[in-house]
Amino acid sequence: MKIAFFELEGWEEEFILKNFPEDQVFLSKEKINEFNLPPENDFEIVSIFVDSEINAKVLPHFPKMKFLTTRSTGYDHIDLNACRKKGVAVAYVPGYGDNTVAEFAFGLILSLTRKIYQAVDRVKENGSFSLKDLRGIDLKGKTIGVIGTGRIGKEAIKIAKGFGMNVLAYDPTPDKKFKESVGFDYVAFNDLLKSADIITIHCPYNEKTYHLVNKENIELVKPGAFLINTARGEIVETEALVYGLRMKILGGVAMDVLEEEGEIKDELNFLTKGHPKEAELKNMLYNHILMEMSNVLITPHNAFNSQEAIQRILSTTVENIKLFLAGKPTNLLK
Ligand code: NAI
Repeated sequence: MKIAFFELEGWEEEFILKNFPEDQVFLSKEKINEFNLPPENDFEIVSIFVDSEINAKVLPHFPKMKFLTTRSTGYDHIDLNACRKKGVAVAYVPGYGDNTVAEFAFGLILSLTRKIYQAVDRVKENGSFSLKDLRGIDLKGKTIGVIGTGRIGKEAIKIAKGFGMNVLAYDPTPDKKFKESVGFDYVAFNDLLKSADIITIHCPYNEKTYHLVNKENIELVKPGAFLINTARGEIVETEALVYGLRMKILGGVAMDVLEEEGEIKDELNFLTKGHPKEAELKNMLYNHILMEMSNVLITPHNAFNSQEAIQRILSTTVENIKLFLAGKPTNLLK
């Protein structure tokens, strides 16, 4: 069997080769998208990460592909319909780092509410120990609004309870048992926006969650609230963030994910793409405005990135491939 792994960092190679001694294994640091297709393409199994984009334009390049497995929980970079039509089974890694992402979200929350980034920067860059403008707020007693109470959202709620916060949550599929055991309330989406001092997003990105937070409902947000997004950039309308911050509706924003995230990482590539859409260009400009704002923290899609989590991702991916080869595929996306 010919198996290809893309977007590797390097440390994974030994583990991968040890697990597939009988197979032809192709290892690459490159991502795959319609503008970046590998010259070698006769793989039956392909593994990617989140910066690759697999759609109807890319799939014909891999005529032999039968199985695609992403080393991530999010799978919005894969066109599942197009894969289905081509007879490609798609698997993912559910729940490799529920605590990992939730812990990172709290890192961002504390950085925003206690101005930790500004404080460190002041000492390191200026050697100044002045406390001017560094006063923050406590988390204890504040209300956190958790959007999406799946694996990561649940971990975030447990951490919030540890901080002594009041927890409100919104999820179209509430988990009543979890709610009873931990002690929090599910509320309507708009009520969450109105009541939360801190809003943290943990739902998947799909057509229903596209711009879930937008120019209209940003007006409902409690003045001064903080917004944290470690889910996917497209869940929040970037223009609404800029508006919300300028109008002081939002007290601060921290994002591990951005709309047009791939383009921001590689702006030169964006220019060579041909005819970028106006909306994409606008979002990139807004992203640059956000990066300049002192009450906005942006991290480079790093929430998953703990030693324990990446080892779990790789182990699950190897297992996904082994079970597919054994005719017992697991973690399939339907
Ligand atoms: P999950 O599938 O366990 O939970 C998602 C929850 O969101 C479910 O309870 C679902 O009912 C809920 N949901 C669906 N539509 C919703 C809506 N319109 N409003 C509110 N809630 C809604 O997923 P998990 O493992 O908790 O991951 C959540 C997301 O986090 C992933 O889809 C991925 O995009 C993102 N993620 C980001 C990472 C990073 O490094 N920044 C790493 C891992 C995941």
